[in-house]
Order: sequence, then structure tokens, then C-alpha cells
Amino acid sequence: MLKVGFIGWRGMVGSVLLQRMREEADFAGLEPVFFTTSNVGGAAPAEAGAGAALLDAYDLKALATCPVLVSCQGGDYTGKVYSALLQSGWKGYWIDAASTLRMAEDAVIILDPVNRAVIDKALDSGIRAYIGGNCTVSLMLMAMGGLFREGLVEWVNSMTYQAASGAGAAKMLELMKQMDCLTQAANASPNGDALSVETAVTATQRSAAMPTAEFGAPLAGSLLAWIDKEMPGGQTREEWKGESETNKILGTASTIPVDGICVRVGALRCHSQGLTVKLSKDVPLADVEAILASSTPWTKLVANNKQDTITDLTPTAVTGTLTVPVGRVHKLRMGPEYVGAFTVGDQLLWGAAEPLRRMVRILRERLG
Ligand code: HSE
Repeated sequence: MLKVGFIGWRGMVGSVLLQRMREEADFAGLEPVFFTTSNVGGAAPAEAGAGAALLDAYDLKALATCPVLVSCQGGDYTGKVYSALLQSGWKGYWIDAASTLRMAEDAVIILDPVNRAVIDKALDSGIRAYIGGNCTVSLMLMAMGGLFREGLVEWVNSMTYQAASGAGAAKMLELMKQMDCLTQAANASPNGDALSVETAVTATQRSAAMPTAEFGAPLAGSLLAWIDKEMPGGQTREEWKGESETNKILGTASTIPVDGICVRVGALRCHSQGLTVKLSKDVPLADVEAILASSTPWTKLVANNKQDTITDLTPTAVTGTLTVPVGRVHKLRMGPEYVGAFTVGDQLLWGAAEPLRRMVRILRERLG
């Protein structure tokens, strides 16, 4: 049985990973061992076997007994451990949710419904590092993969509406506290009409009562048009990942431009994106729709009407599911090669845990 070590399985992405692996009976045929940075010797999850203890996530010898390691522990851990493990002579496979190794030459970004051929080629050529992509990029490709596959994309503009979960568990909780704070202000408003409630809520958003230690500003009832660090040229790092990761995932011969503005909104765990695609030629709308629908088995075309859009194309509808709806598909006024679309995806599933889970399966099939 394939021995697989898990690091960072208690955090948000790690918990979703374990949940999905249990749902899909992925542990059958594996010998899982669980590592910890804080509770060495504590009880491991039941999958490790009766009485199994947690191992030290910094013990290179213990890590090296695993031919496959899966880390959701974060970039700092990857930075500390991965190269030390390689230097110690470990020759296993490293599957990681963190961005640290994504753009490394000897690493592949995994999104197998879209780039299985790239993954298989990398496995054949002896690549050992398989890294989950940025959630926004992975979700965009789950929706739009068909158009890329058919070579129809000249460029993509992606304007995002990103959930709090992408910023981490603490920020998600702060969003809820902010909502609570605003609800209290609304309820305390002496006069219940809309303008009085708005005045009370806005005053609270601008006051010290608003919990903003995590986001640095109110997100509830507002939005934040900045995600991650500043990059040269006016982009943020989240925006920079759009082009660099899309092209790496697809293994494009020449770079397809992808750019836009990434915005944090008060959704909990689904990222949404409004997309403008410049097609390389005029393709009939019905063909565009059919190609989008064929992007992956999880991609779902939503008819461009109000009822289907407000029922099926929302974070509320999509959260906790693997479905990646794409809707609002229509030709834009700019010309027949310009297509508008909107897509939503669960940031913790296809945006984080699911590609890792599936990579463990791919390795199990390969390694036995
Ligand atoms: N950087 C993403 C976000 C997280 O902040 O939403 C997923 O890669």
C-alpha cells in the first residue's frame, strides 16, 4: 500500500481535503500517516489505524519514509522543509497547496480535468513536485477550459469577486463578526426606515466598533479592491497569477494574456468572476456555449436568463459542491469576437483541496 504523509490537515484546506478523501473512499489502498507542527504524539485520525500517533512535521527522517507527502501547512513550512528533504536524498512526490513552488521549473501546477496531459508528461519525465494552483485561476479554467482547449482564446480579462475564505480562516471569522456588528447597528437604529438603517450601518462601519484587525477595513457591506501584495506595473500578486499560472497550467507555447482586477467581497467560500474573452475568431454563440459546457464534467452552462442566473449562478447555490457554473454567456457590444461570461466556484474544493486529492489518486494508480 502506498504510504502517504499528510501535513497541515487540520486547517481549512486540509480539513476539506480529508473530508473529500473520506467521501470518495480515497483512503482505501493507502497507508496514511499524519504529521503535526504542534501536537507530536497526539492521536492521529482514525485512518492511520488504531492508536496511531501524530508524527513531527519537522522530522526529515520520518517524512522521508513516505513516498508521497501532501502539505496544506502553508508556504512557510514548504520553504523550511521541501529543499531540506530533497537534500537529505528523499525521492518522493510532493503535493502542496501553497504557492511557494508553483512557478518553479521542476514543479507542475495540477488541475487534472484541464491539464491531465501536462501532469502525465511531467510524471513520465520524473518531476516530483505537484502544486495546487491559485484558486481564482483554477476556477476560471474549470469554467473556460473548453475555449482554451480549442485554441480560441486570444486574451481574457477577469474581474473577480473573491470570498473571505481565500484569505484564510481568521478573515472568514472576522467577516462574520463584522456582519454581526452591522446587524446590531441596524437593529438599534431608532427609526427602521432604509435610510436611517443605512446611516447607522455606515456610521458603524466607519467607527472603531467595527472589527477590522484582519482585513484592515470593513468588508461586510463593502468590498476591498486589493488582494495580496503589490507587484510592478500596478498589478497585485493575485492579478499577476492570472496570466502566469494559466499559461503554466495549460503549458501554452506562447503566452495568452490574462489580466483584470481582483476584488474581495463578503461571500464566504465561493469565488466569482466576470470574464471578457477575446476570441481568436468569430465563433457562433451556440458553439461557444457548447464548448464551454464541455470544459470539464463539472462545468455547467447556465442559460442566460434572470431566473436561472439568480438560482444557479451564485455563491449560495455553489458552496459545498463541485459544480462550476458558467453563465451570462453572450457576445459583447465590442464586436463578434468578444464574449462575456460569469462563473462561480467553491474556492476550497476545485480552488484548493480537490486537485490535491485527485493527484493522490493519480499517484496511487501509478505507484500501486
Ligand atoms: N489568493 C486567493 C485569495 C486564495 O486570496 O482568495 C486562493 O489561492
